Amino acid sequence: MRKALCFGSLNIDYVYDVPHILRPGETLASTNRSIYPGGKGLNQSIALAKAGVATFHAGAVGEGGELLLETLQDSGVDTRFVRTIEGLSGHTVIQRETSGQNNIILYGGSNQAITEEQIDETLQYFSSGDYLLLQNEINLIPSIMTKAAEIGMVIVLNPSPIDEKLLAYPLELVDIFLLNEIEAMDIVGSESPPDELLRSLSSKFPEAQIVLTLGEEGALYLDRKGGKILKHGIFDVEVVDTTAAGDTFTGYFIATLAKTNDPQEALRVASLASALVVSRLGAAPSIPTKEEVYSIHIYLKE
Ligand code: RIB
Repeated sequence: MRKALCFGSLNIDYVYDVPHILRPGETLASTNRSIYPGGKGLNQSIALAKAGVATFHAGAVGEGGELLLETLQDSGVDTRFVRTIEGLSGHTVIQRETSGQNNIILYGGSNQAITEEQIDETLQYFSSGDYLLLQNEINLIPSIMTKAAEIGMVIVLNPSPIDEKLLAYPLELVDIFLLNEIEAMDIVGSESPPDELLRSLSSKFPEAQIVLTLGEEGALYLDRKGGKILKHGIFDVEVVDTTAAGDTFTGYFIATLAKTNDPQEALRVASLASALVVSRLGAAPSIPTKEEVYSIHIYLKE
């Protein structure tokens, strides 16, 4: 199987447990604080590696970055393309309420210090058919996409968090989109029900495969040039922390699609992995191994 490069963020997540997510102007005591390795890039690399793909991570860390590097390495991710620089590592402040829902404040730090030279040095190691997985938490993404497309890498984009800048990226180079409804609406430029949204994205990017995640409603998939929409629901578990659910879904979907070329199976395995991750606390530490994913499914009900 081809190797995968995730060029993405590495964050230290400072997670505060609160009775409810703060309202504007409110001051509220937290009941606990935890520190976890996270970042959409790091989480997705770990999910890919745990799903059994030869995974390389590229990015940058600063102060406190040892935790992030060790976490990747312990999960089997190759970190030779992660640079250590001066200054603060990327980090977040996360409010986690009792229902397991959260909100996240992001500080870019070292994630915004990617250079053209680092991109060139890293991409030299990859070839046509290798996967490139991107999110929207680092700088120079358009350059990474353009250079990877010249090599013939399969470009996977999770356009999260979505912002104005992302809309100007060369999105026509993307081979596989994994996104939620809000991101899809921003890219399409209008609101519509999920099936229509998927069709609109597909007409805008006919060469891309698209996965639309719908939270409690599961996920939809549409192949290149349209066709039949595939669907999958969520597995029913007790939710304690939704952090990294989308990242785990992304990593497991891509890994399973790469291994089986069966998008329906990829939706099923990714849904199982996300069910496991939301039933545990934290981002990266809660991402399951493939053995856990394949052994647990008989106990879960769709
Ligand atoms: O998707 C979850 C991740 O988003 C967290 O780990 C946090 O670091 C932010 O990047």
